[in-house]
Amino acid sequence: MRLLHIDASPRDERSRSRQVADHYIAALGAQDVTLEVEKLNLWAADLPELGGGMVESRYALIHGQPVDPAHVEAWAEIQRHVDHLLGFDQILISTPMWNFGVPYRLKHYVDVVTQPRMLFDNDATGNVHGRAAGRRAVIVAASAMPMQDEPFASTMDFQLSFLECWLGFIGVTDIHAVRIAPTFGAPEAVDKIMDDAKRQIAAIARAG
Ligand SMILES: Cc1cc2nc3c(=O)[nH]c(=O)nc-3n(C[C@H](O)[C@H](O)[C@H](O)COP(=O)(O)O)c2cc1C
Repeated sequence: MRLLHIDASPRDERSRSRQVADHYIAALGAQDVTLEVEKLNLWAADLPELGGGMVESRYALIHGQPVDPAHVEAWAEIQRHVDHLLGFDQILISTPMWNFGVPYRLKHYVDVVTQPRMLFDNDATGNVHGRAAGRRAVIVAASAMPMQDEPFASTMDFQLSFLECWLGFIGVTDIHAVRIAPTFGAPEAVDKIMDDAKRQIAAIARAG
């Protein structure tokens, strides 16, 4: 089993989301000796830009036309990122909440790989088929605010809701998520939140 860990926190070992993601990998590895893990540190990754004429090729692709010859090389680089992602059976995403959503490096990655005829197919009537179907995804979502207890959480959460929506769009139906929230508070309270999150993620690993 091949697992890609997409790590969206720029923090060092203090990262809450990475600590829980690593707990998942350890729990999974303890029961699956075939587990291979690759880490994708989004803050060190070289992600292609989609500005200028590059984005016009996306419109070409979505209409079933070839990319502009001037951008063939750049689009081959994008294809490599998509092929890399599709080379894994399982996708683990760990991320902090930043301004209600995900850090821009994670959004950048999503914008790079989510391409027609590469990560999803569409027909003229708008039906979409995601090519990541059949994979499992696990999301670890940390936030300073207690999202799960907020009455308006659903209107403030563009982190977990965005990632679940994106994974669904690219065809993933086996999606699991653990929130670590709130990570702001008394140390003992945050320790308990971390312990709870680790317990939840270990249960997901066992059920896998
Ligand atoms: C730039 C920035 C923006 C943030 N925005 C939010 C936010 O909108 N809501 C929230 O609950 N926490 C926010 N936080 C707090 C982080 O989500 C929180 O500290 C989280 O536990 C960090 O996870 P990490 O340690 O894995 O990086 C923000 C932190 C930073 C650095």
